Amino acid sequence: MNNKAISLPLTSPLLSKEFIFGVATASFQIEGAAESRLDTIWDTFCATPGKIRDGSDGKRACDHVHHWEEDLRLIRSLGVDAYRFSVSWARVMHADGSVNQQGLDFYIALLDRLNEYGIKAFVTLYHWDLPQHLEDKGGWLNRETAFKFRDYAQLVSRAFGDRVYSYATLNEPFCSAYLGYEAGIHAPGHKSRAYGKQAAHHLLLAHGLAMQVLDDNAPEALNGIVLNFSPCYPESDSAEDIEAAKMADEYFNHWYLQPLLEQRYPDVLDKLPEDEHPPVQAGDLAIIGHKLDYIGINYYTRERYQASSTELFEKLEHEQQPLTDMGWEVFPQGLTDLLLDYHQRYQLPAVYITENGAAMVDKLVDGKVDDPERLAYLQSHLRAVHDAAIKGVDVRGYFAWSLMDNFEWAEGYLKRFGIVYVDYHSQQRIIKSSGYAYRDFLLQKAQSGNVKQQGGAK
Ligand code: FCB
Repeated sequence: MNNKAISLPLTSPLLSKEFIFGVATASFQIEGAAESRLDTIWDTFCATPGKIRDGSDGKRACDHVHHWEEDLRLIRSLGVDAYRFSVSWARVMHADGSVNQQGLDFYIALLDRLNEYGIKAFVTLYHWDLPQHLEDKGGWLNRETAFKFRDYAQLVSRAFGDRVYSYATLNEPFCSAYLGYEAGIHAPGHKSRAYGKQAAHHLLLAHGLAMQVLDDNAPEALNGIVLNFSPCYPESDSAEDIEAAKMADEYFNHWYLQPLLEQRYPDVLDKLPEDEHPPVQAGDLAIIGHKLDYIGINYYTRERYQASSTELFEKLEHEQQPLTDMGWEVFPQGLTDLLLDYHQRYQLPAVYITENGAAMVDKLVDGKVDDPERLAYLQSHLRAVHDAAIKGVDVRGYFAWSLMDNFEWAEGYLKRFGIVYVDYHSQQRIIKSSGYAYRDFLLQKAQSGNVKQQGGAK
């Protein structure tokens, strides 16, 4: 097989006309132009010494606010069906809740251009950049923030009208809650197990409240949520390790999925001390369990667990080769396994793989970036999605993370996930060989794709 190309079996459901391929980004990671929006928790976090590995921030990032037209042309040149991006709450709303019209107009122009290009807009309302003034009142620890989020969703979805193909309320509430409030490695940097569960519950509540608004204001759009999952594997066949992996799976993965799909937290809840229980009020779980049109799944790697004498489980370091530049094991089988597992366990709505990709050490040589490892990663993971699809999982789309290199949170600009290289100094964009391969794959699909019908969108 040509190792510079991406391909799938000719009869693959992923090659059907309806299957959506896209690229994804997020506001804080690419936009820059921090002066024309409010401060967010990530601005504060970046300004705190020691939090970001290279001491950088998102003030300029990919300067997308000033390069958006060029960036949309770039997206169009890749031949994708869809573009997933997020709206910055702090750009469209003033602290008193009134509209920031200039900010809103930025996204409306972007949406209009996408529609003009025939590219479907997948809009995420919250990709971690909480306005700092809300954090000052407790952030996601404050139940009130969920209602503020509903107001924000109201404002945005009214203004966007029918321009949006799909909304996601939240991106990866696990990361916001666990990394931000429990482990302290993401903004706002709190470290408390109780806080983690509190934040997670308020995020889920925010999601449910926003879903009601989206279904009213954008009834034709596909409305849902994006979750990230790392399937949990036991280190050995011992009953103890198997149990440890199961508890980790509930703690990190089902903690988000089960309330959404079954209106209850997983059983591992009973193993936690009372003060770590989520602050559930009457009626919350019914709101959280609002019917989803789809679920977005982000997948990067798996995790391995063993039993621990002091904790519920112990996570092991990634050591199996190959590893990405993040130090994450390349394990495509994990994506197939998790899709099949969830398909079996739950009444899953339609699934979109809303993020998948790899950070690699990219080198710009003679104006080109050759990234065969990323290409191999994309190929093997598309194959993994295919394997799940032919076994009955209703997967309808795949988005490469990311369109372009960007601000990788606590890693700053040290990790490059793009299929397009960004020279941060000149702000030049250079399509990597993986980007060309993705483009060629999509071109070929458009020319010869099978036309097998899948279920309608909604
Ligand atoms: C996901 C995030 C995304 C990006 C990738 C690498 O968890 O949603 O913003 O950082 O990881």
